[in-house]
Order: sequence, then structure tokens, then C-alpha cells
Amino acid sequence: MQPGSLNPRMPIPADALRRTGGVAVTRIAFGEQVIADRVRELGREITDAYPTGDLLLLGLLKGSFIFMADLARAIERPLQVDFMVASSYGKGTASSGNVRLLYDPATDLAARHVLVVEDIIDTGRTLQRLLSQLAARQPASLGVCALLDKKLAPPIPEVRFVGFECPPAFLIGYGLDYAEDYRHLPFIAELG
Ligand code: IMP
Ligand code: MG
Repeated sequence: MQPGSLNPRMPIPADALRRTGGVAVTRIAFGEQVIADRVRELGREITDAYPTGDLLLLGLLKGSFIFMADLARAIERPLQVDFMVASSYGKGTASSGNVRLLYDPATDLAARHVLVVEDIIDTGRTLQRLLSQLAARQPASLGVCALLDKKLAPPIPEVRFVGFECPPAFLIGYGLDYAEDYRHLPFIAELG
């Protein structure tokens, strides 16, 4: 499959309609096994990239909750886990670039390797604002592992690990929501 395209032949799981309450999912972007295989690889990449030091996985809620649970178990070195809740505010539905932290971990970041775990990079604005706030706390290093990247924004240097490049479509499942629904789907799909 080419990066940036959806695979029209990926079979729709038989239980998809039960999970969505009857809303048709017509295109699966990344199936359960494809995700599991890639998350295992990401775990290996991260394990190798941090041979020493304290590692803190900092998940951005809510979208990262399933990815974080799988990724943390795929990393074979000591680590700690915390979460942040960020909210974009401003008018309209588009990302405003103003990011407010609603829950900010009390954890001291100084001298620790901090790896932000994000579900999807769209405009990249949420991440960029957050990274400058986190960098001010002087971690030993600051990186990002994003499950999906729409590749719409200029590259952000801190983004060291990406699960999949994805099309500029609106995706749901595996943590990603549409109006808070569909986060629990075990695959990633486009709403049909
Ligand atoms: P950004 O600041 O434009 O990069 O927005 C990133 C955030 O918007 C992500 O963390 C998601 O919460 C949300 N988002 C962006 N694209 C999608 C999508 O296709 N499906 C679900 N949520 C999305
Ligand atoms: Mg998110």
C-alpha cells in the first residue's frame, strides 16, 4: 500500500457494524494486525533509541490511550507513563493553535528522556505549542512518537517515530474519535 492512500481491498471486519451501532465503515485504512505489527516494530525502534537514562512516555489524551497501552508493552526497557490533557480553544472547529493544558503532570521532567505519545498529526499545531511548553522544563531529551501523520505540516524535528503516514481523510478508531464516538474500534477507518 502506498503511503497516503487507503487500501480499498482491506476487508471490513464482520463485527464492524455492531461496534458502530449500524454506521457503515466502508474503508479500513489500517487493520488490527497491521497496527499490531507496526506497534511492535515501533517498540523495538524506541527500545534501541534509548539505551540509557530514565524514559517517560507522556501520552496526549484522549486520542493516545489505546496506542499508549500497546506501545508501552512493546518497549523492552524500564519506563514510566504519564498523561496530559490539552485543549485547543478559539472559534470554529479548526485547530486554533492555542493550546491549554487541562491536566499537566506534576512529574518532574528535568534530566529525563520525555517521549510524547500522540495519536495523529494533522496541522501539527497542537504538538508544536505543547513541545515548546515541555522544552522549557529542560528534559534530557524531548521526542514524539505519533501513530499517524497526515504529512500536511512542515516536519517537526522532535517527531522521531511515526507509525504510519496516512491520507488527509478524517480517520476514526484505535483511540481516534468523531465527536467522542468510535475510539474503541480495534482498527482505523474512514467514516463511510
Ligand atoms: P493538529 O493540532 O491539527 O495537529 O490536531 C491534532 C489533533 O486533532 C489530534 O491529536 C486529534 O485529536 C485531532 N485530529 C486530527 N485529525 C484527526 C482525524 O483524522 N481523526 C480524529 N482526530 C483527529
Ligand atoms: Mg489527540
